[in-house]
Amino acid sequence: MRFDRLDRLFQRLRRWIALLGLIGTAILIALWWQQLQSPQMAMPILPDPTPTSWQNEPIQPIPLQVTLDNNKVKLGEKLFADTRLSIDQQVSCLSCHRLDLGGADRQARSFGATGVQTQVNTPTVFNVAYNFRFNWNGRFETLEAQIEGLVQNVMGISWEQAIRRLQQAPDYVQLFKAIYADGITLGNVIDAIAVYERSLITPDSRFDQFLRGNYTVLTAEEQEGYRLFKSYGCGSCHQGMNVGGNLFQKFGVVGNYFTDRGNITPADYGRYNMTGSENDRFVFRVPSLRNVEITAPYFHDGSVQTLEQAIDVMAKYQLGRPLPPEHVRRIAQFLDTLTGEAPKDEL
Ligand code: HEC
Ligand code: HEC
Repeated sequence: MRFDRLDRLFQRLRRWIALLGLIGTAILIALWWQQLQSPQMAMPILPDPTPTSWQNEPIQPIPLQVTLDNNKVKLGEKLFADTRLSIDQQVSCLSCHRLDLGGADRQARSFGATGVQTQVNTPTVFNVAYNFRFNWNGRFETLEAQIEGLVQNVMGISWEQAIRRLQQAPDYVQLFKAIYADGITLGNVIDAIAVYERSLITPDSRFDQFLRGNYTVLTAEEQEGYRLFKSYGCGSCHQGMNVGGNLFQKFGVVGNYFTDRGNITPADYGRYNMTGSENDRFVFRVPSLRNVEITAPYFHDGSVQTLEQAIDVMAKYQLGRPLPPEHVRRIAQFLDTLTGEAPKDEL
């Protein structure tokens, strides 16, 4: 009698377990399938494994590594350095975005193909994947769109022309064929460059080591600089993984930087150029402060040569209060700790 009931109970239990097992397997298969289907671009960046010590900080460390298709990185690197992408074959992406100069070129404004000068200062390409929009005014929402829009401007060439040139180069024909079934196309050229750009990270700055829990890696002065950076409110705009790059803000919250500087150009209007809305006049993407030690001159107009001057300008026009020189120096010392390991020039 008893055994009979127990037996039935066991049978029912077994059926339930089998059913649960089946459902579990189905879910796992579905998840795996979804993973296979999602494009490789979707999650190229590894999450950091131990987000504990920086949970309450306005700044997060950048990952120590990213997983990317290495063949695409190499191809993108070659394209990035190739002058065939410019009309006069004199200029490559690397001319303005130099790996040995913090991903920029130390010029206030740069000269592109046929000597055309850029309207704004060249921003760094380092850690660019962590910005939420691209260009000073945030015109582009993806790296791919930025690349597509940019070439005509600084390289003076149409994409049709550039693609034709690449298709005539046997080395590129082979390299593309090995990665992309459809060979050299606009989409594939842009993809390779974008993947390469995603590889240009500068991990393990002393400040990131500090965030990860190595509290002795910063001097007392540098830690004081970080404290001042937060308490003055710099961190309300320059924040996140890139210490910037994730917000739009007006340049000149207090007072008018542009009338004080003079010679206002259309590029100074910032986001207004896209939206036509008065609220967007002089609004820019807050720039990243990573590696800012080595990316002078500063601001979209490249008007300021030293970090301490830039901090003075920020204090005056973003916070509306001058800072004592001692504090400016400390904040600059903190900003210097944001310089990470530069990507190597493999070519
Ligand atoms: C003549 C100098 C010059 C050359 C050559 C050049 N760039 Fe730039 N790059 C700039 C300038 C200036 C900007 C900012 C444009 C703006 O904000 O309107 C920029 C912006 C960018 C950005 C956006 C950065 C950000 O944080 O928003 C990326 C990415 C980039 N360039 C990649 C490239 C690639 C790829 C090439 C080659 C195809 C290239 N650049 C060639 C000057 C140059
Ligand atoms: C209200 C938002 C806001 C605050 C607060 C703010 N900034 Fe900025 N910061 C910006 C914007 C926007 C820019 C870009 C201005 C431009 O060139 O168009 C910028 C640019 C900079 C630059 C130049 C970066 C480069 O690569 O050209 C530095 C350095 C800087 N800020 C440091 C600071 C410091 C230090 C503080 C605190 C004293 C601070 N900022 C406070 C919004 C802000």
